[in-house]
Amino acid sequence: MTREAQIRRISTTDFRKKKSAQEKIVFVTAYDFPTALLVDESGVDAILVGDSLGMVVLGYETTIPVTIEDMINHTRAVSRGVKRAFVAADMPFLTYQSGTSDALKNAGRLMQEAGAMAVKLEGGIEICPQVQALVTAGIPVIGHLGLTPQSIHVFGGYKMQGRDDASARKIVADAMALESAGAFLVVLECIPAELAAEITSQLTIPTIGIGAGPHCDGQILVLYDLLGITGNVQPSFVKQYAQIGQEIRAAVKEYASEVREGKFPAVSRSASSDDSVLSYSSPKKA
Ligand code: KIV
Repeated sequence: MTREAQIRRISTTDFRKKKSAQEKIVFVTAYDFPTALLVDESGVDAILVGDSLGMVVLGYETTIPVTIEDMINHTRAVSRGVKRAFVAADMPFLTYQSGTSDALKNAGRLMQEAGAMAVKLEGGIEICPQVQALVTAGIPVIGHLGLTPQSIHVFGGYKMQGRDDASARKIVADAMALESAGAFLVVLECIPAELAAEITSQLTIPTIGIGAGPHCDGQILVLYDLLGITGNVQPSFVKQYAQIGQEIRAAVKEYASEVREGKFPAVSRSASSDDSVLSYSSPKKA
């Protein structure tokens, strides 16, 4: 049996089982083939190709300029790298808010052309008709409540949501509505930990938190934040598990000075006229 045949793909049903067994669900974002491969090999349950890619890898200030073509290209690259983890993709701004027919067309493209196994939509009661239509068509849906970055200009900045009674009650009602509409997971972003705990206990579907405290059924972080790749100021809820940005800078600096000093490439690394085929082997240290 090949290795591929032995690997069991995580599916939508695994998440509810994990909630029942009180096993935490691990999500992380990825946006390209090599990081998807590494993240998948590290054993996470699920990868989200988030529209955060607009800010993290495309250099936009918000997620608003991200297009369906951006999402399709990046999701395709991620799907090629993943054998085990569940892969979900974000639906970008205005590809679903405009109605069920746009939602179906664009979610369908993310699944058919890019290999997404589910799509994530931001919003509550107002997008439930779209959620219902997608689920009826066989497209698994993840909801996203709290600080929903596509509405950043409505919120007036990246601010914690659900702090007062009325907005907390609205988020609870939205979460219940998404569950009734057929969503199989809900992401809760930047809301108070007690509110996330209440929603987590009221829903039968799992909650995935980011900046929403420890009581959610699972957690998600932006890969580049947890790896310390971006030099940007990060929200206080982010924990950096590595400082890869510093390592990249140091490695490229060393390469640049070796080129300038004539140390790289050494003769041993140069092809001779006898070599008809270049060999691509594991990298050597020196
Ligand atoms: O776009 C994204 O990466 C997200 C997660 C941070 C939840 O929506």
